[in-house]
Amino acid sequence: MSNVLKLAVIGGDGTGPEVASEGLKVLKAVGKLEGFSVDATEFDIGGNRYLKTGEILTEKDIEQLSGFKSILLGAIGHPDVTPGILEKGILLTLRFRFDQYINLRPVKLFPGVETPLKNKTPDDIDFVVIRENTEDMYAGVGGFMHKGTPQEVATQTAIYTRNGTERWLRWSFEYARNRSRRKHLTLVGKTNVLTYGHDLIYRTFKEIAQEYPDVETDYNNVDACCMWMVKNPEYYDVIATTNMFGDIITDMAGIIQGGMGVAAGGNINPEPGGVSMFEPMGGSAPKYTGKNVINPIATISAAAMLLENAGYSKAAERVMKAIIAATGTKMKSQAAGKMGYSTTEVGDLICELL
Ligand code: IPM
Ligand code: MN
Repeated sequence: MSNVLKLAVIGGDGTGPEVASEGLKVLKAVGKLEGFSVDATEFDIGGNRYLKTGEILTEKDIEQLSGFKSILLGAIGHPDVTPGILEKGILLTLRFRFDQYINLRPVKLFPGVETPLKNKTPDDIDFVVIRENTEDMYAGVGGFMHKGTPQEVATQTAIYTRNGTERWLRWSFEYARNRSRRKHLTLVGKTNVLTYGHDLIYRTFKEIAQEYPDVETDYNNVDACCMWMVKNPEYYDVIATTNMFGDIITDMAGIIQGGMGVAAGGNINPEPGGVSMFEPMGGSAPKYTGKNVINPIATISAAAMLLENAGYSKAAERVMKAIIAATGTKMKSQAAGKMGYSTTEVGDLICELL
């Protein structure tokens, strides 16, 4: 642990800057208690800059960001920009350029938070999804033929590589080994239909499993996983899944853990010198922008993941405990405008509870 936590902050669009600044506030407060200072550099990247200058993500941005181990991201997505331009041009490009091959999404129902699942408690909903973050249909491989004509053909190819599969699954096994006493890892795919790509993944999974006799493994097809996640979320400890399925099932998981106000994720490059990026899962929420009503808990939870990844485990734990105290004993709801506190007050509350 260094005594200076250096990070980049991209507030981004909509409510992104509001939540990012609460995340930063909590990092600074926990640093004071744990004996480190926070050196944050803010980056002006997002829809507003794009509308002003036409720049989405420049080589200079990438070069500057590459000097940081950690990035805290607010949100990307602007109502005046065609959907996809910023998401692909900023968020996905950052994930790809920094080779953040792990997308770690903890799914934990905090005390006091409402879940739409009947009779399920924080004891039942506590698992993580490890989504592969650089391959699959996200690789951007494809094209058009005869575009705009009745004969149009479009392809969108899913890419799976042995190397990409192996590094993500190996990391998942390590994670399952260390996460809890259960040491249970479920691979989620679609081997009954994707008989090439998911065959490669399944074979790799079986092979690596041999090296981890202490980790219990299982395989679910993604459609069945959706059923079980709703019916028996307590079955899951660690889920490893592909990029597109991971995108879909983590939105469902986000809702069962109480919604976008609390769901956080990390885009991690675990290699030495890797640049990792932590973000709330919710979007830029244009209708709440500037009103001081959005819930910053997801971003604060992302900040805790950032701390853990940067080697400040005690500080990370302290932030998580404060979040649990806030949701369990103070906040009325996790929905924007209904928390019983404003955005900045939730940030202050977490700082007090640290
Ligand atoms: C997510 C988001 C992104 C994704 C979008 C905004 C490109 O939905 O982080 O889950 O599909 O990965
Ligand atoms: Mn998504």
